[in-house]
Amino acid sequence: MTIDRRSALGLLRGLATAPLLTRRAGASQSPDLPEIPLAPLRRLEPGLIEIDLDARPAHVMVDGRRARLWTYGGSFPGPLVRLSEGETARLRFTNRLPEATNLHFHGLHVPPTGRADNIWLHIPPGETLVYELEVPRGIAGTYWYHPHAHGTIARQLWAGLAGPLIVEGPLEAMPGLAGADERIAVLKDLALDERGRPTPHRVHDWHEGKQGDLLLVNGAVQPQLRARAGTLRLRLINASNARYFRLALSDGEPLHLIATDGHYIEKPVDVAEVLLVPGERADVLVQPEPGRILELRDLPYDRRTTHHSMERTLMTILPAAHATGRELPQRLDAVPALRAKNAAVRRHITMAMFFMNGRPFDPRRIDARGRLGDLELWQVENVGTMDHPFHLHTWYFQVIARNGRPEPFRAWRDMVNLKPGERLELLVPLSNYTGRTVYHCHVSEHGDKGMMALIEVTA
Ligand code: C2O
Ligand code: CU
Repeated sequence: MTIDRRSALGLLRGLATAPLLTRRAGASQSPDLPEIPLAPLRRLEPGLIEIDLDARPAHVMVDGRRARLWTYGGSFPGPLVRLSEGETARLRFTNRLPEATNLHFHGLHVPPTGRADNIWLHIPPGETLVYELEVPRGIAGTYWYHPHAHGTIARQLWAGLAGPLIVEGPLEAMPGLAGADERIAVLKDLALDERGRPTPHRVHDWHEGKQGDLLLVNGAVQPQLRARAGTLRLRLINASNARYFRLALSDGEPLHLIATDGHYIEKPVDVAEVLLVPGERADVLVQPEPGRILELRDLPYDRRTTHHSMERTLMTILPAAHATGRELPQRLDAVPALRAKNAAVRRHITMAMFFMNGRPFDPRRIDARGRLGDLELWQVENVGTMDHPFHLHTWYFQVIARNGRPEPFRAWRDMVNLKPGERLELLVPLSNYTGRTVYHCHVSEHGDKGMMALIEVTA
């Protein structure tokens, strides 16, 4: 996520007077923002829950049409997996698809081994696997789940397989967050053929990353959100294969950023826009003034492909009639300052199509060996010609420099964008877990074609 306040403010001033070209005929015709259903759950004992989930083809309504998608639990996006810090969740997952699949709990700090976030497990059609997630403390935040069987990820994600995962923690009780109207917004694009099926991948889709013309928020086109309180907390998730969202509010209203990926930042930061790349999340507070309609817009962004990018409205926000509780939290959570001089290991990673460090992914080759507990300094460089969003499993990182310049505020992330020629410095603490997992480009087509590498961390 990059935030460039100065250039964005100029742009937003322009927005305030621009006619609402992309708005539909009348707000009253827009669907309400769909609520995402909770995945069926049983409490087995204190601190232990069981959740049922399956992957299956299903018919769902998309933009007034019957679409034939691949879904989790028959809904699109998939049902909400809501966990609490400190609890253990048994996730009973059944594959009712005609091909193998699995689950990746994107961003969740759990082991990459056993039955936790283990992407090496593949579940054949008709079979069930019980994942077991021990949710550590201190990771309350916004995550998501999606398939991660190498080579099939892009197709399965495009077919509709993606759902939100939230971890709740004690911080949600703080003033400024406790009374907020909390909404999940899964942003995902799609294109359907005449029969209502996701359009198939073509050669250039593998190259550029597949995009569709339907911009969906929780599966709906330009829905309206009726705020129930003076402060809205939007948990924004980009679950697209390749589409970047450059989010801003109409009328130059600021977004109060409170969390990046799965972690709170130290205090709210007012930003004019948020660039949300595939896989990335951002939690923002929005305070619509009574009597004033806001729009969440997607501003043009050129990620150096042939895709044409234009400004569009994603969602309309109607203020609450009685907007109470409009205070903002003062402090959120500590983000420790990591020092590059404490890094035990330095790595240089280059990204270009379809390689990491000049080589395509090979699951039998270990590209990076790390030691449990080490702090590592990763220099990641985009040596290609288009943007690539970088993602690391299991461990999160802090960006300490972009082309040598420090970031405006400290934040934990598991996703970060690289423009062509850009070089980032990341500090990665390899804490708590050992095992083999991957880092890769989250344009899922690029990952499937080989922009992925394997890291093994041992004690
Ligand atoms: Cu969201 Cu390796 O993925
Ligand atoms: Cu890429």
